[in-house]
Amino acid sequence: MEKAYIGVFGMGVMGQSLALNIANHGYAVAVYNKDRENTEAFLKKAAGRENVTPCWTLEEFAASLEAPRKILLMVTAGKVVDLVIQSLLPLLDRGDIVIDAGNSYYADTRRRERELRERGIRFFGMGVSGGERGALEGPSMMPGGDPEAYGYLKELFEDMAAKTPDGTPCCAYIGPDGAGHYVKMVHNGIEYADIQLICECYQLMRFAAGMEVEEIGAVFEEWNRGRLQSYLVEITAKILGVRDPETGRPMVDVILDAAGQKGTGKWTSMEGLDIGVPIPTIAESVFARYLSALKEERVAAAKVFPWQSRAALPDRETLVSQLEESLYAAKVCCYAQGFALLRAASEQYGWGLRYGEIALLWREGCIIRARFLEDIAAAFRAQSDLPNLMLADAFAPALRQAQAAWRSIAALSALSGTAAPALLSTLNYFDSYRTAVCPASLLQAQRDFFGAHTYRRSDREGVFHTHWESY
Ligand code: 6PG
Repeated sequence: MEKAYIGVFGMGVMGQSLALNIANHGYAVAVYNKDRENTEAFLKKAAGRENVTPCWTLEEFAASLEAPRKILLMVTAGKVVDLVIQSLLPLLDRGDIVIDAGNSYYADTRRRERELRERGIRFFGMGVSGGERGALEGPSMMPGGDPEAYGYLKELFEDMAAKTPDGTPCCAYIGPDGAGHYVKMVHNGIEYADIQLICECYQLMRFAAGMEVEEIGAVFEEWNRGRLQSYLVEITAKILGVRDPETGRPMVDVILDAAGQKGTGKWTSMEGLDIGVPIPTIAESVFARYLSALKEERVAAAKVFPWQSRAALPDRETLVSQLEESLYAAKVCCYAQGFALLRAASEQYGWGLRYGEIALLWREGCIIRARFLEDIAAAFRAQSDLPNLMLADAFAPALRQAQAAWRSIAALSALSGTAAPALLSTLNYFDSYRTAVCPASLLQAQRDFFGAHTYRRSDREGVFHTHWESY
């Protein structure tokens, strides 16, 4: 029997969609799942495709693959990945390629790559974004691993991936070891921030300005036709137009306001703290999810601290336009934070990340796909060592222009008592970044006062200490 080009291990929703995507592009694919029910369910979906080989044992799976074997794992991130690798190892030959396409933590990927390299197995960590539909119709793919082994995967992955309007695949080799999973982690961190910013705009329209849900949906629909065009804005407009069939109320009013999360935003935030890169909007978005989950406490606190809005509302058109400017500015700043983190990581791990290319990978297929990623790509093309995206010619004028509106929205949030932690934190990031003289001189003096931690002077080189008590 003809051997399969690639095997997919794990027939959950994402594994099934990726395997179908592969088969739909004409590649012979073998599939395996621990429990046979999932494989059987998949076979129904793949009915009529002769290039799909179901395997019922691991031995059969390994034997069904051409050399070098290429095995794509789509299993739950964490311990399961290690267990699956252990179960496969005795059946693999030197030179075989294993690709972990789940949302694995990049440090785990670095470890697995190292351990497997020692055994002659070439390991890839690949970020895949776009959900179930993306996986089937064309996701954004971020593979990281051995550059030579990528030659076996390039064509297949580029076939599978989403394409930009000019036909460029949203898939490119990211870098060695954990680079692909790192980039996906940062993608998710930006996703958290993007979602939170959109939610805060909704909240301000709904509760500070008293707009109806459908009316707000129409605003997002309108924004989606302009520079904010993005998948997340598009689905927000759609969601706000849906009513609960049982109660007739807007769906957004019947869904419990307590956010879930699987941890990738937290990892990104931890990474910012670890590597020393300020990414406050991303961290704030994770905290906002935690705060949302304190539902009972919030309900109780609402009674203890009632607040009557003291905000003078502008007319509807002005408000919507100020929000649009604020959302755009905040989005630019949160992408700036994500790319600043990538830059630091690239230097730390020697990955040689190509930021413009990464922006284009996210142009289609993924959850944060958006028109303005093209501008980000262009900004990095113009200056590859751009210290911060906010400074790019493509964004600096818009940020300058948005400042007034953004500050009005911050005031509206504070005076109406409508929490907008990401919008405000991002404004503070922007203000801190554009502040030439900040109060860290006083901070340094305090540290030197209580702990003789020393300080540097702005007018000459050296390290200094003052005997503060003697003054
Ligand atoms: C993607 C998404 C996906 C992630 C979900 C949910 O790029 O397709 O990032 O990988 O699992 O968005 O993430 P949370 O449950 O943490 O919100």
